[in-house]
Amino acid sequence: MSLPFLNPIPAQIAAVADYEPFARERLSEGAWAYYAGGVADEITLRRNREAFDTLLLQGRALVDLPGIDTRTTLFGKIHAAPLLLAPVAYQKMAHPDGELATALGAAAGGAGMIVSTEASVPLEEIARQAEAPSPLWFQLYFRPDRAVTADLVRRAEAAGYQALVVTVDAPVNGPRNRQQRAGFALPPGVGAANLAGYPPAPTFAGGGLEELLAFAPTWKDIAWLRSLTPLPILLKGVLSPDDAALALKEGVSGLVVSNHGGRTLDTLPATIEALPPIADRVAGQIPLLLDGGIRRGTDIVKALALGANAVLIGRPYLFALAAAGPLGVAHAVTILRTELAMAMALTGCARIADISPSVLWKK
Ligand code: FNR
Ligand code: LAC
Repeated sequence: MSLPFLNPIPAQIAAVADYEPFARERLSEGAWAYYAGGVADEITLRRNREAFDTLLLQGRALVDLPGIDTRTTLFGKIHAAPLLLAPVAYQKMAHPDGELATALGAAAGGAGMIVSTEASVPLEEIARQAEAPSPLWFQLYFRPDRAVTADLVRRAEAAGYQALVVTVDAPVNGPRNRQQRAGFALPPGVGAANLAGYPPAPTFAGGGLEELLAFAPTWKDIAWLRSLTPLPILLKGVLSPDDAALALKEGVSGLVVSNHGGRTLDTLPATIEALPPIADRVAGQIPLLLDGGIRRGTDIVKALALGANAVLIGRPYLFALAAAGPLGVAHAVTILRTELAMAMALTGCARIADISPSVLWKK
């Protein structure tokens, strides 16, 4: 019954969004609800996209460009483009090789990869599959037992991960009504492989909100984490300039402006709306990344114009993985990199550092 992975990629897939229907017909209703859906009324999920579409670009003509260079340095490492794959849990629902397939595609396409704590393949296996010099970071969810959290960090260090991305916006998932209506449950054989062998954490259904909040990290845990590891620590899910200021004070190495792809608190602003005041406060002291709704090279230009140093994509590569495996992931990354270079050429930017607020159209 299940459809084969696409190979070759059909001509109908010209933009990353074109992967959606091909992914949908290959995923169960539950997996589709989990991957594509957001929280509650999905207002933030939609707004992440709509906000990009209301921003317009200022085209430039007759600029003498020697070529377009999309390379970006983050934490001392060169990235082929300011584009990384966001941490996404349970990728074995999309492809039997799960995160291993994604790692292949990321390396082939030239994007860094951030591996989720809730990956369906152990982080060590993913690191073996990932190809140097493609940047590889680990996304950390704190566990109820700090010794377990410390063990995850040590494993990530030992496996060669180069940064830790602590997700701080999801002590609880929020009411994911689309998943509930679809009766979503993880299928047999898919689970959080990194956490096998540790004591299970309470769930909302099992322990309620209080038990979840009891192990949610706070600023003192970030200080503890800094004392534990020399790796750069980024906080993912920061939307408040005040939190950004606290992060600077705590010596955090980078921030990801994110609303978790509209999956945790509904009616948060779009990330591209939340970015400018945070960029103001951070004033270039640490790298700022952004995710949520990036679907075009022009979206990347807009995010960089408003102060981001790089962006992450979630669903675009996940849908490409579900439709076409590693080939799809590499293709989706390549489409975005190509679109980014074209948009830079047409806004008169030869290098990433040339992208400034002046590329945005002002009435
Ligand atoms: C996520 N995201 C996420 N974030 C995180 O820190 N750890 C995780 O395990 C997951 N898991 C996850 C699963 C699925 C199915 C999705 C769609 C997203 C959030 C992710 O890293 C990122 O913030 C958003 O996906 C970005 O938005 P777009 O690109 O999907 O619009
Ligand atoms: C999610 C969790 C795993 O967004 O972060 O589904």
